[in-house]
Order: sequence, then structure tokens, then C-alpha cells
Amino acid sequence: MSQPTIESILHEQRLFAPAASFAQTAQIGSPEAYQQLCDRAQANPQQFWADLAEQELEWFAPWQQVLDWQPPFAKWFVGGKLNISYNCLDRHLTTWRRNKAALIWEGEPGDSRTLTYAQLHREVCQFANALKHLGVQKGDRVAIYMPMIPEAAIAMLACARIGAAHTVIFGGFSAEAVKDRLLDAQVKVVVTADGGWRKDAIVPLKAQVDQALEQGGVPSVENVLVVQRTGQQVAMQLGGRDHWWHELQRLVSADCPAEPMDSEDMLFILYTSGTTGKPKGVVHTTGGYNLYSHITTKWIFDLQDTDIYWCTADVGWITGHSYIVYGPLSNGATTLMYEGAPRPSNPGCTWEIIEKYGVNIFYTAPTAIRAFLKMGEDLPKARDLSSLRLLGTVGEPINPEAWMWYHRVIGGERCPIVDTWWQTETGGIMITPLPGVTTTKPGSATRPFPGIFADVVDLDGNSVPDNDGGYLVVKHPWPGMMRTVYGDPERFRKSYWEHIPPQDGQYVYFAGDGARRDEDGYFWIMGRVDDVINVAGHRLGTMEIESALVSHPAVAEAAVVGRPDEVKGEEVVAFVTLEGSHASSEDLRAELKQHVVTEIGTIARPGEIRFADSLPKTRSGKIMRRLLRTLASGETISGDTSTLEDRSVLDKLRSEG
Ligand code: WT7
Repeated sequence: MSQPTIESILHEQRLFAPAASFAQTAQIGSPEAYQQLCDRAQANPQQFWADLAEQELEWFAPWQQVLDWQPPFAKWFVGGKLNISYNCLDRHLTTWRRNKAALIWEGEPGDSRTLTYAQLHREVCQFANALKHLGVQKGDRVAIYMPMIPEAAIAMLACARIGAAHTVIFGGFSAEAVKDRLLDAQVKVVVTADGGWRKDAIVPLKAQVDQALEQGGVPSVENVLVVQRTGQQVAMQLGGRDHWWHELQRLVSADCPAEPMDSEDMLFILYTSGTTGKPKGVVHTTGGYNLYSHITTKWIFDLQDTDIYWCTADVGWITGHSYIVYGPLSNGATTLMYEGAPRPSNPGCTWEIIEKYGVNIFYTAPTAIRAFLKMGEDLPKARDLSSLRLLGTVGEPINPEAWMWYHRVIGGERCPIVDTWWQTETGGIMITPLPGVTTTKPGSATRPFPGIFADVVDLDGNSVPDNDGGYLVVKHPWPGMMRTVYGDPERFRKSYWEHIPPQDGQYVYFAGDGARRDEDGYFWIMGRVDDVINVAGHRLGTMEIESALVSHPAVAEAAVVGRPDEVKGEEVVAFVTLEGSHASSEDLRAELKQHVVTEIGTIARPGEIRFADSLPKTRSGKIMRRLLRTLASGETISGDTSTLEDRSVLDKLRSEG
């Protein structure tokens, strides 16, 4: 790959090879080292992962079997005992890292806090004891609905420490969405805060929890643990359901040994959108997830002990789980957490923080990069960004223009960029450059991580030729893979393992993304092939938004599609037909948008609502989304419309737009 290929010259594609100075100190720094890893993984995947598990993690008891694979159900390191909170905290306390900064936190109003490994350990132990005090036991589920404050990470690690599974619910979700998740996971305790800061406003988290729990709406919830963040007035059901964290903290000891967990004990459930109206509870377990988040963080972000590492995701998403909390801490790194986001009162806060802390590694989303690009170069140029040595992106395809801007303006043309493809379901990064060895092409996530066997196939499961489009699949189980959909193993099988038939008896994981692979073996992700849209790096099921719309009394039918958006990647466009007695109006439009926010959260707010007399359907009654997508993006409809039941519908929709 050192020579540009003919194709790349023809397309004037630029290649970016890692600088020798970067490669010299990199975790994986030579093509030979990289090739050796790939070869070892290829020759014996189980041995490859077992060697890493032994070298990289501490186990209380060894496993008896590396992999038990009963497709589609995998068990990794069967019989092994460990605790991820021990691997993230305790094991560093006997080393010089004891007094190293584990977590640097910056609040939106400008307050800040740094916790060393010893301090973080102490806080986690206390929080774990507080949960125990409330009756939380191994195997229980605890929901964490928090702003981006240290206590969010502390609560996660505390759950892991005592063997309770956490389910983190993104702070932007509405009371309705919170309730759905609490019910599905049969949550026993909810950890929340009075409120959190977001773009100069307070997000009233506790009030949302109260609404979700109204009138015994979630019978399994016994207690709510409230962290004081904003100091605003909140209603507390004292002497009963609700407890202040700072009051419980005074009652509990800081001594709480980590519970020895089975490698396959559930670590967390994280809800993500699928193609039906109901979010999927993605289940991750202990040993495999610990290893996979650990090793991907180490090699992809090339962690060095002096680095300050900043991932801008929210802990409510998988990126926050794997690459703010578990991966970095397991490696003994310094991880930075920021409560806020760029906002009119401080649009340059990102660059201010990089300068203030001397951030070395910065991981963000294409949607953020495109927003930065629009704001112009003056903001980043006003700050010293020379500490940066590595940049990353995740969440959606990055357009080459945004890539080049990131490279030039933020990276000062010296930082490698890792474009990392993965999903909630995969637990960690799957397709990515390794920054010391991979020559990158803007817009490509490049190659699979060592030990990951990805392919692009047709619907029969046959590999497609180079540069042909197809479906992205993974051919061998890997330690970080999801284990099931919580409470619904059939949905797990149907969603991921049945679209593509097994090849030579080998089951393949269907990711739901379209992709092509070029002549260098580089993957180019082309976006979702199912009814899932990606708004600002967040997955939303079209059905989920449609169900929300249809739950409004004025709505008869709704169809939701994504439309390309310059900053957000995609924007939600809803086509709505009304119940007989209701007439379309601007007020109703606004009301329906707000209704979606109430049902799901602000991330799902439709950018546009179009009223229609009827929706284009096939003779069998299936809504023809392809047509709606085309209409939504203002393009003319071409191709086959012969399956359309009533052709006049299209003309009406066109004139509506
Ligand atoms: C979907 C997963 C994994 C954390 C963030 C989102 C898209 C993710 C990339 C990338 C192109 C990407 C895919 C994927 N996606 N990373 N580097 N290039 N597309 O997690 O909510 O589970 O969404 O995000 O479509 O399937 P998620």
C-alpha cells in the first residue's frame, strides 16, 4: 500500500501514510508487527483472543473453554471469573498509576474536577455500597439517567463492581422513552441527578424520572438515587422512594471488594433502535466485552501513559461506555469527560478544552466536525491545538471534505485520523485504521481490526467483487459481540443472523449496513440498508417515530424517511395522513413535531412534516419508502413504480411538497 493504486490516481484520491515519528512510538508501529497479528488471528482466532485475554486482563479464576459457539449464541472465556471494575481500578492501585489522573471532568458552567485512580476507586466503592444499602444485588438491573458528570461513570463502575447490570439511558430521552426502557429491563433502582447543564439550559432529569414513574407506572422500581448537580428544586419522595446521593454517601463505607463475576454474566443492557417500533435491549457480558473494549482502545487510540484522551460522546451511547469509561480505564489512561456542547455562548468550547488540558487524542463524530467546519476556522485557530497527536471519528460515514478539514485545521496536517466503524451491537470498533501502520483514504474506515473477519456479500451470502456494493457482514464470533436481545433471543436471531444464509455452515453477522470493498481491501461504508436512519450519529428506527406520530389523535398514518442533511448526515422527514375530522395547519405541524419530542426525545424531532391524502403503497400494502425518500430529498422519481397501487398518490404528494 505504499504505492498509490491506479484507481486512486484516476480518482485523484489522496493517501495519508502515518508519519515515521508517529510509527516509531506506536503500540502497533510496523507493517510486520501488524501482519503478524493478522496472521496469528487468521491461523487460530481462539488462541489469538485467549493470549490477549491472559496478557491484558486480570482474572480471579481461569476459563475452561475459550469459545462456546452455538450459533448465534456465543460464550467467551467460559468459566473464567473477573470483574471489569477491578480491571479498571483496583489493578492500577498497586502501580504508580495509583495517583495518576483517571478522570478529568469539565462542567459546562466552567467548574471542573479531577479524580485520580485512588480517588475514583474510593468513590466507586462508596457508590457500590450505597446501591447495596438500597437492596441492589448481583443480577439486578439499575438504570442510569444522568448528565455527563463523574457520577455517571462512577455509577456504571459501581454496578459492575457488585454485579448489577446497568442500563444507561441517554439524558436527552423523554419520560416516555425512559419508562419503556425501565419496564423492559425491569429496573430496580434508577440513578439520576436533579438536572444537568446542556447548552446553557438545565435538563430536568429528576422531573422526567418522576413522570416516568407516575402512578406506579413501573412497578419494579423501588428506589431513585439522586445526585445533586444543579441544585435546582426537585420533588423528593423522602423517607421512601427517593434518596440524595450526598446523604447516603455519609452513611456508607469505602470498602467494597469487587464481586467475582462469571465471564458471561451480564454487564449491561443498552437500548438501540431497530426496524420495529420497540427499541432493542442489546446485552453485553463481562469477560469478552472487557477484553474487546480494552484492546481496541489500546491499539486504535495508541494509548501512551502520558496521554490525555478525550472522547466527546455521551455515556448514554455505546461510544461513551466503551471509549470514555471501560476501555480507557482498563488501560490505566487519563480520560476526559465534558458535560456541555458547543453553544452560542461558547461556540469554541471544544478548542478551549483541548488547549486547557493539553488533549493528545480526540475522538468525535462527523456531524460535529461538519458543524465545526460551518462555524469556520477562526475558533480553532484562536487556540493552541499543538498537543493533539491523533484524531478519531465515529457514528456515520465521514465525507472526504469534512475529513480533509479535520486533518488540516484540527490535526495541523500531522495527526493520523482513525475513522472507526462499529455499532452498539459489536461492543467495540470493528473496522478501522491502526494509526501507526495504516495508510488512510479520506472516507474509508479501511480494514477490519486484527481478529475480525468482515466481508461484503450479496443476499445469498456470496462475496461480491471488489468495488461492488453489498451487505456488510462479520464471519467469525468476536469477544465484544452482543450476546442477545434482552428477554428476546428470537429477535436477536432474526435481526442479525437470518438475513444472510450461512456459508459452508458458517453463520454470518448481518450489520444492517451497505458497503463496498476496494481493490486494496479497504471498506467504504455506505449507510443503513434497513429502516433505520442515522441522525447526527444516532440511530433512530423509522417505525419508532411512526408509532410516536400515530399515537397522536389527529394522525391516521405516518411514514418516516431520512433525507440527506449537510450537518446531521440525515434529517427526519415524516409523511402524515390525518384522521377525517382534522385539517392540516402550521399549528398541527408544530404540535406533531413536539409530540415526537415528548414520546422519544429531541433527537427524533422531525425536520419536516408533510401532510398527504394518502401514502404510496404496494398492492400488498407496504409503504414504498424508496419513493418517499426520493420525494423528501426533492429529487425526481425514476425507476420502477409499477408495483404502486394507486399512481395518482404520487402526483398529489409531489404537488404537496
Ligand atoms: C451505526 C451504528 C458505534 C458508535 C456510534 C453509533 C453507523 C458507525 C461509522 C463509520 C460509517 C458508521 C453505521 C452503524 N456508523 N460508525 N465510521 N462510518 N458509518 O452506534 O448507534 O449503534 O449505530 O452507525 O450505520 O451501523 P450505533
